[in-house]
Amino acid sequence: MMYHRPVLLKESVDGLNITENGVYVDVTFGGGGHSKEILKRLGDGGKLVAFDQDEDALQNTINDERFTLINENYRFIKQFLKFYGIRKVDGILADFGVSSHQFDQPNRGFSTRFDANLDMRMSQRNKLSAYKVVNKYGYDALRKVLFEYGELRNANAMAKAIIDARTEHPINTTLELKAVLGEFLPKAKEHKILAQVYQAIRIEVNQEVESSKEFLSQTPELLS
Ligand SMILES: C[S@@+](CC[C@H](N)C(=O)[O-])C[C@H]1O[C@@H](n2cnc3c(N)ncnc32)[C@H](O)[C@@H]1O
Repeated sequence: MMYHRPVLLKESVDGLNITENGVYVDVTFGGGGHSKEILKRLGDGGKLVAFDQDEDALQNTINDERFTLINENYRFIKQFLKFYGIRKVDGILADFGVSSHQFDQPNRGFSTRFDANLDMRMSQRNKLSAYKVVNKYGYDALRKVLFEYGELRNANAMAKAIIDARTEHPINTTLELKAVLGEFLPKAKEHKILAQVYQAIRIEVNQEVESSKEFLSQTPELLS
């Protein structure tokens, strides 16, 4: 199965305005589609550093001496580039979100298509999991996650339903979570609403907003 089909491949790499001997960063390596396109356009003196926090992405590494893959969170971009002696770069590409591979692995818990343990971690080193968000967060934290990251109108009532259910016994799997939220999932909208719930929990588990803010705050200096 294909790891990930890159979106807007040509357009996004065109946007980097690649110069032959430049230094570029792909902070969301995934299946390496964007990285391969960047390498095609770089000359022998060019350099590409890529990041992906998911250990699975390492299987796609590219054997090319101009290329380095770092299995870390892009929130530490400056620190890791410095480790490799890089203080300034010519362009940075970010393709935020989840890869098809992550969605397609049933055991990782990202997809509404499968029953799985509540996980949703992009990196196996992440201490926070969907289980912790669903079973340990208090009412206010939970409704905030559902409202802000899932844009769910029923966030308050959903948070209450989760808290009520887990006082009986822990919610262990995605299917159990779906059952707990059953009253908010009318057949016609079931998939859409469930996808919003998953998105909200996933953004929280992976601290996507915080990571992206930290990453973006470092880019002006790297690109100056
Ligand atoms: C949409 S996919 C990128 C696909 C890639 N452009 C390609 O051509 O295959 C996003 C990737 O970014 C990674 N990722 C998401 N957040 C990250 C973060 N904070 N730090 C490092 N990698 C991250 C995910 O693990 C995933 O593999």
